[in-house]
Amino acid sequence: MRKIHIRVAMVYITAAILFLIIRSFVVPPTFGEYDWYRGDSVREIMELPPQHANATVCKDCHSERYDLWSGGAHSTVSCESCHGPSYSHTKDPIIVSANVDNSREFCGLCHAQNPSRPADFPQIDMDTHGNGNLCVVCHNPHSPWVFGGE
Ligand code: HEC
Ligand code: HEC
Ligand code: HEC
Ligand code: HEC
Repeated sequence: MRKIHIRVAMVYITAAILFLIIRSFVVPPTFGEYDWYRGDSVREIMELPPQHANATVCKDCHSERYDLWSGGAHSTVSCESCHGPSYSHTKDPIIVSANVDNSREFCGLCHAQNPSRPADFPQIDMDTHGNGNLCVVCHNPHSPWVFGGE
């Protein structure tokens, strides 16, 4: 073997050793515990407080609204789409309230006429429909073809 070959080999070997040394410092200890990610991230995510509760949980305490909702045109819209993330409300309903927004603008977020919405999605002209009255005067939000009420 020529000297030059040995030198080139030394460069590669040094680079490989350096790589392994640096790697041992920067790769988090639990990396690869399960797969190509930090094992600790699973435990950290599990410890985050839950934010969401689904409609079957709401049903325990709001069965009338649940029944209206599950049989009506809004049954594909989750309770939380309108009332916000409500996990902590379900645990302590008196202390933590769920959001309630009965404004026209709120319903308009989904139903205002807008050319970018699918043509067969029910849309209304916000300026004229319902003569400026709150939508919930005529549409029960939990089952919008039921007249009024909560
Ligand atoms: C499309 C939006 C929408 C969905 C979906 C929806 N709600 Fe509502 N909810 C409203 C609005 C708006 C009001 C306020 C009605 C009013 O002011 O007349 C309301 C009122 C309520 C209230 C009474 C609040 C008060 O004024 O005391 C409860 C309880 C409630 N909803 C629970 C639920 C539950 C449980 C579900 C799911 C099964 C659900 N809602 C689904 C929009 C919605
Ligand atoms: C353990 C019983 C319980 C569960 C579960 C529960 N709620 Fe409630 N909820 C209540 C009580 C009690 C009130 C009345 C609170 C008050 O008058 O201060 C209330 C009130 C509300 C209100 C009126 C606004 C407020 O907070 O005062 C809304 C909206 C609501 N709940 C939505 C929901 C949704 C959505 C769910 C499911 C994610 C849900 N609730 C699950 C007991 C519950
Ligand atoms: C998060 C989006 C969303 C919000 C907010 C919302 N809706 Fe809806 N709404 C829907 C969806 C989805 C449908 C079902 C559409 C379908 O069947 O094609 C629907 C259906 C309806 C229908 C029946 C339309 C039909 O042609 O059968 C009415 C009426 C209605 N909503 C009124 C309201 C009112 C009033 C509010 C406010 C209290 C409201 N919506 C808030 C998404 C929403
Ligand atoms: C004065 C009562 C009244 C008020 C207030 C009202 N509506 Fe209506 N809405 C109706 C009636 C009646 C219909 C069915 C006839 C029609 O399409 O005009 C209807 C139909 C609808 C439809 C179905 C449209 C379609 O083409 O399928 C949607 C969506 C709707 N309303 C949403 C709303 C929203 C959102 C608000 C508030 C911004 C609202 N409505 C306020 C009475 C009302």
